[in-house]
Amino acid sequence: MKNSIKVFAPATVANVVCGFDVLGFAVNEPGDEVEMRFTDTPGVVIKKITGDDGRLPLDSAKNTVSASVQHYLKHINRLDVGVEIELHKKMPIGSGLGSSSASTVAGLVAINKLMGDLLTAKELVPFAMKGEELACGYGHADNVAPALLGGFVLVRSYEPLDVISLPTPAGMYAAIVYPEVDVPTKDARQMIRSKVALKDAVTQWGNVAGLVSGLFMNDFDLIGRSMQDVLVEPTRSILIPGFEEMRKLATENGAIGFGISGSGPSVFALTRNEETARIITKSQQQHLHKININSKAFVSPVNAEGPRVI
Ligand code: HSE
Repeated sequence: MKNSIKVFAPATVANVVCGFDVLGFAVNEPGDEVEMRFTDTPGVVIKKITGDDGRLPLDSAKNTVSASVQHYLKHINRLDVGVEIELHKKMPIGSGLGSSSASTVAGLVAINKLMGDLLTAKELVPFAMKGEELACGYGHADNVAPALLGGFVLVRSYEPLDVISLPTPAGMYAAIVYPEVDVPTKDARQMIRSKVALKDAVTQWGNVAGLVSGLFMNDFDLIGRSMQDVLVEPTRSILIPGFEEMRKLATENGAIGFGISGSGPSVFALTRNEETARIITKSQQQHLHKININSKAFVSPVNAEGPRVI
């Protein structure tokens, strides 16, 4: 059995515009890394966190990585095991790119590998959801499921949990821009109305079904037509500087579709190739620069493999 391991887990784009809490996909970069090793003392300890500017808790009950690893060890009846963890944040926190989810998933995959792959990736999803609950008050799975499984994922149901991997059309790229303003998921969730009009629900579930069909049919136009959100985006987009202009730039430059990544402030466009993705992020960053907002851009194919041992 191995004594130590280092795992990378990818960032994710949750919601994919129309599928609030039920759709998400993973990208190749950015992502987080977790190093984990066995120790002689039972318990889970966070030894070090880098790249977080001191923002994340070292207290193992409060940190999403250690807390979910602890849940895992309890589940497999191995609370006698001791591990120490180093978390290397390689992506912005509070960006809408599934930052807590990437860390938590890297930690869970690390402990599961160290223990001899006792659970499948799908079986790890509920443990990762515990981490999300700690991070934002609600254990949504639309970041952790694609971070664990790679590709596009549908959370068909939460009770009971039913997670379904969807196909990724060949050549599809994600163009992501992160305007550097802080939008914590917890706050962004509180903004949303808890009741919706039937008319809006009809529009939304038509789009979710359309997007899923588009992925199966390799139909980029259908995917694009379906990337519309009448429920959440109208409220959340107000928090994102330059949102409407960035949409215009994405559309004019040939995006399949555009919207908020997770709870924002990152935005993303799906494209048919890498070149289009680069043109879109460049034009959007230029716009943000004009309105005095710093930004970061990530261009990546949809990630097919999920987490990896490095
Ligand atoms: N579905 C979640 C939300 C994703 O929109 O709040 C958070 O990244």
